[in-house]
Amino acid sequence: MPIRFCILLFTLLLSGCALDGRQSFMDPKGEVAWIQYDLFMLTVYVTFGIFLAVGGTLLWTVWRYRERSSDDPNVLPPQSHGHPMVEFALIAVSVGLLVIIAIPTVSAIFYTHNMPDEPESLLGYYYKGDMADGAEDEVLTIYAYGWQWWFSFEYPQLGIVTGNELAIPKGKVVRFELRSKDVIHSFWVPKLAGKVDMIPGRNNWKWLRGDEAGYFFGQCAEYCGESHAYMQFRVEVLEEDDFAKWVEQQRQVPKPPQGESWQDFVVMSARNPEQLQDDPVVRGAALFYGRGACIQCHAIQGTPAAGLLGPDLTTVASRKSIAAGWMEHHNDEFSINSERQYDNFFRWIRESEKIKPGNLMYHVAGGMRDIELSDQDCHDLAAFMMTLRP
Ligand code: CUA
Repeated sequence: MPIRFCILLFTLLLSGCALDGRQSFMDPKGEVAWIQYDLFMLTVYVTFGIFLAVGGTLLWTVWRYRERSSDDPNVLPPQSHGHPMVEFALIAVSVGLLVIIAIPTVSAIFYTHNMPDEPESLLGYYYKGDMADGAEDEVLTIYAYGWQWWFSFEYPQLGIVTGNELAIPKGKVVRFELRSKDVIHSFWVPKLAGKVDMIPGRNNWKWLRGDEAGYFFGQCAEYCGESHAYMQFRVEVLEEDDFAKWVEQQRQVPKPPQGESWQDFVVMSARNPEQLQDDPVVRGAALFYGRGACIQCHAIQGTPAAGLLGPDLTTVASRKSIAAGWMEHHNDEFSINSERQYDNFFRWIRESEKIKPGNLMYHVAGGMRDIELSDQDCHDLAAFMMTLRP
């Protein structure tokens, strides 16, 4: 019975594996992931060969020297001890196998650590702004920050800030500067590149290249607190033209729902709340900038919201998920389902603590725990969030 139980348990565990699952490193789609996959498979082949040789020898020995009915139990079979040539050969073969694994391992370590000599990632391909001189500056650089429990991404050369979802151009080397804002996190996009830790006070970095357009799933890979498992992110690899469009879109700032400027809107909505009309978007925006205190932590570029503690919301409705990838609102083709998106915004605002225990939006002083929001308020905020797209 226990054996049957173990087989059943093992089968159930295996059912969680899929070679092309969305976070499978066995389905590489980028240069660095390919190198690491090849190295992994080489090691598997070598160690599997060792397993067969050792296991086979053991089985053969047990079978060859088994007790036979013709054996006289009172007579010891011929005994032997050691064999210099066999021992020497075993050492030589072991060293040889280690060398076979070590050479590609060491070269992969150097290759994945150093920027490629001629990174085909010159920003001029898709961005014609003023650039500093020097090839190093022309490589698209992204600052990735780990927070409990989400990621922020900054494109210093392009003036873009985003949260939990980022885009990179296909076939171009991208350099990531990996930083932490609190505890140790780890940056991992299994199909594009292996993990590198984000450590407070330490400047880690890595490069990667996406060789196929697509939507890839990333995950914090270092235990960082109670909602570590919900700390995900997405990397969209886009064709060059699409990436240029994405850059343009991300740099747009939203228009105020009423009035000439955001400043006018904020002042007007604070002084004359009765003028907010019957429009949930206008009410939601007034709540966001006023009583809701959302701007303590969130920024919306080009508006008075300049908080630095939470994700930048300038184009939050253009993302395909919220809550660091935990609440998805895309369909199988990775385009946005607006109904689900609205529902996710509402639920996240209404009950973030249930969805991601310990999150700062709820627990920070003056956060959701301290603010009395009605269901209607949450609907209004969700309606406003839905407008934050290019
Ligand atoms: Cu961040 Cu685990």
